Amino acid sequence: MAHIKKLNFLKNHKDLVDENYGMVAVPTFSDKMDKDLEELFKSQNKTGKVGDLVFEIDNNSRIVYYGLGDSSDKTAENFRRAAGEVVGYALQHKYSDIAVECPVTDEGEYFCQAFAEGLILSSYRFLDYFTDERGEYHLKSITMVDACNQDAAKKGAIIASAVCDSRDLGNHPGNVTTPTRLANFAKEVGKKGNMKVTVFDREEFTKMGMGSFAGVAQGTNEPPKFIIMEYFGGKKSEKPVLLVGKGLTFDTGGVSLKPGLNMDRMKFDMCGSAVVFGVMNAIAELQPKMNVVAIVPSTHNMLGGSAYKPGDILTAYNGKTIEVLNTDAEGRLILADALAYASKHYDPEYMLDFATLTGAVVITLGHIATGIMSNNETLVENIKVSSDNTGEHVWQLPLWDEYCDQVKSEVADVKNLGSPGQAGTIAGGAFLKAFVGKDIPWAHFDVAGTSYHVENRSYIQKNSASGQVIRLVLDMLGA
Ligand code: BES
Ligand code: MG
Ligand code: ZN
Repeated sequence: MAHIKKLNFLKNHKDLVDENYGMVAVPTFSDKMDKDLEELFKSQNKTGKVGDLVFEIDNNSRIVYYGLGDSSDKTAENFRRAAGEVVGYALQHKYSDIAVECPVTDEGEYFCQAFAEGLILSSYRFLDYFTDERGEYHLKSITMVDACNQDAAKKGAIIASAVCDSRDLGNHPGNVTTPTRLANFAKEVGKKGNMKVTVFDREEFTKMGMGSFAGVAQGTNEPPKFIIMEYFGGKKSEKPVLLVGKGLTFDTGGVSLKPGLNMDRMKFDMCGSAVVFGVMNAIAELQPKMNVVAIVPSTHNMLGGSAYKPGDILTAYNGKTIEVLNTDAEGRLILADALAYASKHYDPEYMLDFATLTGAVVITLGHIATGIMSNNETLVENIKVSSDNTGEHVWQLPLWDEYCDQVKSEVADVKNLGSPGQAGTIAGGAFLKAFVGKDIPWAHFDVAGTSYHVENRSYIQKNSASGQVIRLVLDMLGA
């Protein structure tokens, strides 16, 4: 893994002259440029919009100017993206130490946090498996100059660094990011963050009655894990927020085998759990006064002599029976037990689950927005507020009773498919709803499209896990 973990700070930009930075980045708004600067942008076919970046022609100059668009149209997301362009340029040109002037003046501390996030998020590259010069990472430090609010910037750096750690979990292949590796990651985070971490092995969770999770896991030799992280930093009387993540460390589809094209991407099938781990990782650093519990069922989904089959009927932790019609709809099966377990053993204020659950959500929303479904409109409103704050898009899909009827089975309580060719993402949500305890506000995030990117986007690299939604959840928690 390579990313900048902490920012340096320089109080006054006048001190810049004494320091030895390979590059100094200076912000500018497209409507606030003097003539010379306008000419410079023009000469490089730029206008100063967000993402535009120009360098001084003089070879001895170390200054680049970066655009932030029109000064009447300032958004935290624009600041985050502009920061991303600056660091992208530095990486491309192999600078080792750079200074970036903070563009925030009086827009509020969240802008400062967002800018810092952009700097760290865009510094991430996944280079671990190159043994030649492609594995070299030249960037050593980023210094933020004139940061309007250092505490906010430091918080942004902590959060973004946690996002990068989660990207790493996603980007490592299935033979490295195994359930055991995820359990160890949880333990490391727990140790530094005052959390109690409990891990149940196959024998234990099978005996406990998690027949649905055990069914999916029975086809793999890689030991599956049921991981619980408890953080009680708030009052004892306060109900915890429950976070549940799909930790499917590789999804072959099982006996209902997936086609070969792009199957390698199914290493990203644990990215729901990476959201949960990212949130807990940041909480471990920030130590907020609140109670949060994370639960991750983790296994490969493989095929072989002992694998579960279409037609099998499994019994979940809450006693409900499930007809398996397709072994590739395995995410909802492992989450069923996790949601039922969370509902029984905690008294959650609300419960959120994150899963790369359906290819259908990628068709519906692309890699741009996360599909959300819920049993509680107030919760949805809160999610939307945090989505707007963080620039991480969500779009709500309905969970009307008619959809819930579509996952009823003719031989068991529910089946793991909806009606053929219809509303595949909603069928996933409708199935999960059957395992959420009565009266618990709950929302399901289908992150199959947003958890990894196929194109570059300023601070997210193409073909990389994105770590998206971690920032949204932290904002929602008020961590
Ligand atoms: N992990 C996949 C969903 C997925 C697909 C994630 C593409 C990212 C990109 C999930 O386990 C799955 O296979 N879902 C099936 C469900 C179907 C059998 C009802 C799907 O979407 O095809
Ligand atoms: Mg699958
Ligand atoms: Zn899957």
